[in-house]
Amino acid sequence: MAINRLLINNLRNIDSVDITLSPGINVFYGDNGSGKTSVLEAIYLLARARSFRTQKQKVIIANNKRSFQIFCTVENNNTHHEKKIGMEFINNKIKIHLSGQPLKKSSDLTKLLPLLLITPDSKNLIFQGPSLRRKFLDWGVFHVEHSFLEYSVRYQRALKQRNSLLKQKISEKQLYNFWDQELKQFALKIHSLREEYVSYFFERLVFYLNELVNIKPISMEYLAGWPLELEYNLMLTKTYNKDIKLGFTEKGPHRSDLLFKVEGQLVQEKLSGGQLKLFTCALYLAQCALFSEKSKSSNIILIDDLPAELDEKHRYTLLKSLYSLGTQIFVTTTNLAMLELKQFKNTRLFHVEHGKVREMV
Ligand SMILES: Nc1ncnc2c1ncn2[C@@H]1O[C@H](COP(=O)(O)OP(=O)(O)OP(=O)(O)O)[C@@H](O)[C@H]1O
Ligand SMILES: [Mg+2]
Repeated sequence: MAINRLLINNLRNIDSVDITLSPGINVFYGDNGSGKTSVLEAIYLLARARSFRTQKQKVIIANNKRSFQIFCTVENNNTHHEKKIGMEFINNKIKIHLSGQPLKKSSDLTKLLPLLLITPDSKNLIFQGPSLRRKFLDWGVFHVEHSFLEYSVRYQRALKQRNSLLKQKISEKQLYNFWDQELKQFALKIHSLREEYVSYFFERLVFYLNELVNIKPISMEYLAGWPLELEYNLMLTKTYNKDIKLGFTEKGPHRSDLLFKVEGQLVQEKLSGGQLKLFTCALYLAQCALFSEKSKSSNIILIDDLPAELDEKHRYTLLKSLYSLGTQIFVTTTNLAMLELKQFKNTRLFHVEHGKVREMV
């Protein structure tokens, strides 16, 4: 997948942008506050129907305007078939059109625009709690197996119902039976897809760690979120009294996690800041590699402030690895000289200044 053309209106300090993009590398450079991250934010909005900077869509609308609009054309790498996505945020509502038809499910956007994002905060993936890692893992699982979404939604629904019984301290066991069966059915499906994905993922991770950081030996542990040796319903029965006390379901795939270790120690306790950034980049590279193998297509990656914490050699290796996977790359930088771009044929450069985006040729 690649975005061919991008139009943005009234988004933050951007008044109007209309650019043609490269399927390879697109670089947005300019001073602090010029609007570079806002361009990435627009692309992210198209793919996920939400921003990565705020939950309040309203603040994204340019000052003194009533709405923002974003539009793009997306080309399938294999069929060369083109689709149009249009988005408008107005009266506190987001409206999305896909090739002229109103779109109801944001997961259709996610399928169409498989997108990953690296920012200077991306090390949070390793440092913060398990929920970011679960989301990261599930991005990959979903793109390999779309039915994963339905399993997740049904699991979450059952979990919510069960938790609501627990919260009310309802002790009639038979009221739990139906939801416990639902939980079991979807927990096992979620686990088996995650487990399969993780084994492929680890191979790619080791490969990119070798390319980027040369940290060895590395190990990765996938925690299912409950003790796998117990039959699922038996596990729920065993934890029932504690769950009633807690007011929620303690164990299950909603608690799963990924742990990364080097020489038996957690990476976050062992590696330097720069090494952790590279480790994070290797995680993203492994996702892109697996995506392109499994879907026979390629995804899109946004890298905000590419030079942050990476030295020249590693900036180049990261770009080269992504480029050779066929990933469409969007990077921002304040300093164009920091990027070694000569080797890459498919590159477009855009200068960003006071919200205006101009292609440099
Ligand atoms: N709703 C808005 N309307 C108008 N301008 C806005 C709005 N929200 C933010 N801005 C401004 O938009 C500008 C662009 O911000 P952006 O984060 O895109 O800059 P940047 O080029 O990524 O900067 P940096 O290099 O510092 O990361 C900033 O000056 C910001 O103050
Ligand atoms: Mg920025």
